[in-house]
Amino acid sequence: MDDDVVLSAPLFATMDREETRTLFDSMQQIELTRGDVLFREGEPGDRLYVIAQGKIKLGRRSNDGRENLLSILGPGEMFGELSLFDPGPRTATASSVSDALLYELRHEQLIEWIEKHPSVAKHLLNALARRLRRTNETLADLVFSDVPGRVAKALLDLSTRFGEETEEGVRVAHDLTQEELAQLVGASRETVNKALADFATRGWVRREGRAVVLLDVDRLERRAR
Ligand code: CMP
Repeated sequence: MDDDVVLSAPLFATMDREETRTLFDSMQQIELTRGDVLFREGEPGDRLYVIAQGKIKLGRRSNDGRENLLSILGPGEMFGELSLFDPGPRTATASSVSDALLYELRHEQLIEWIEKHPSVAKHLLNALARRLRRTNETLADLVFSDVPGRVAKALLDLSTRFGEETEEGVRVAHDLTQEELAQLVGASRETVNKALADFATRGWVRREGRAVVLLDVDRLERRAR
C-alpha cells in the first residue's frame, strides 16, 4: 500500500518496473513522530525524501524568530532535491506535523538514476514547475488578497491533498495547530482564528481540533478568488 504511494512519485516515472523496484528497495526508511526535525534550513544536504505516510512541513525562520511555512507535503510528494539541483544549503527546515514514514535517497543515487532514465528528469521538472506555479500564486495572494481570502485558499489547497469526502462535506485532517495554520497563511494566529470563526458562523466550515470540515466549497472558492 505505502509502496504504491511512493512508487507513484515523479521520481519513479519510468516503465522499467524491475529497476524501479531495485531503486526503491535501496532506499532507507525513516520513521518520524510529530514534531521531529528531519533537517534544518542552512544545513548541508545530500539526500532527498519521498513521503509514504504522514505530513511534513517546510518552514523558514526570520532573524527575529518568526516562522513562515512554505508548504505542507503529504504521501507521494518529494522534497530535499533543491540542494542537489542548485548546490547549496537546505532552503527550508523539514519537520513532521504527524507521525510519518519517509524513504530516503542519496543525491548521487538520484544522479545515476536520471542518467539511466532521462525521462525521469522530465517528470521531476514537471513537479518543480508545478511547485513554482503554486509558490507564485501564494506570493501574489500575500500581496493582493486579504487574510480571509488566503485562509479560504489554504483550506481548499489542503483539501486537494488531505481531504476526505464525507456526507457532511470534505473533511480535511490537516494536523496543524492554529499557530501552524497562521504560519502557512502568513498572518497572525488571531486574524486567522477570526477568519475561521467567521467562516464557521456563516456555515461554510466546521472546526474539529486539527481538522476542518468544508461544508460549502463553492462559497470558499468564491472567497478565495
Ligand atoms: P532543499 O533545499 O534540499 O531542502 C528544503 C526543501 O524544501 C527543498 O529542497 C525543497 O524540496 C522544499 N521546498 C523549498 N521551497 C519550497 C516551496 N516553495 N514549496 C514546496 N517545497 C519547497
